[in-house]
Amino acid sequence: MDKVKIAVLVSGGGTNLQAILDAQTSGALHSGEVRLVISNRPDAYALQRAEKAGVPTRMVVRGAQGSRETFEAGLLAALEEFDIQLIVLAGFMAILSGDFTARYEKRILNVHPSLIPAFCGEGYYGLRVHQAALEKGVKVTGATVHFVNEVPDGGEIIAQKAVAVHPGDTPERLQKRVMRQAEWKILPAAIESVAAGMCSE
Ligand code: GAR
Repeated sequence: MDKVKIAVLVSGGGTNLQAILDAQTSGALHSGEVRLVISNRPDAYALQRAEKAGVPTRMVVRGAQGSRETFEAGLLAALEEFDIQLIVLAGFMAILSGDFTARYEKRILNVHPSLIPAFCGEGYYGLRVHQAALEKGVKVTGATVHFVNEVPDGGEIIAQKAVAVHPGDTPERLQKRVMRQAEWKILPAAIESVAAGMCSE
């Protein structure tokens, strides 16, 4: 089978997108190929990373008054335009409906910056996750890659990696360590594993 066509959905800096693109360049990710990057924020630096790598981009923004249905219809149109088979949420700060996730059962991956089931679900995203981990005083945190279903951060876990919390950590320092030691490693590896499985179906 040809390579699995992947879309990466982003909202911010896109360091996870970069890790995926780098894994493609190195050959670590070879069963799939990033064919599209979708951002729901016009100012996302991730868009520049995609453009630099020659990957087509689409913007799908949910306006202040915009409905989830219209937003998701926009996402679907872009995904169908590029015949996308596998979706990766890489710092995508929007929750997808059950109707949407059911269309792509076991075909949507998300990376979350904690060891699920700790510090996850609605309201836990980005630096807030690390803030909550520090407030709780955990000594170990990490990252999780999981399939996405109708429950926020509730789908089947694919990979996890633990990361130590250091005395005096700030949310920013902890976020960087979790990204470097866990997210940027387990996300491309999980994508390769799922894409390889799809190729052999
Ligand atoms: C990452 O830490 C990712 O795990 C997190 O946002 C950051 C995005 O960084 N995602 C969530 O919190 C989703 N619940 P990036 O744009 O540099 O990849």
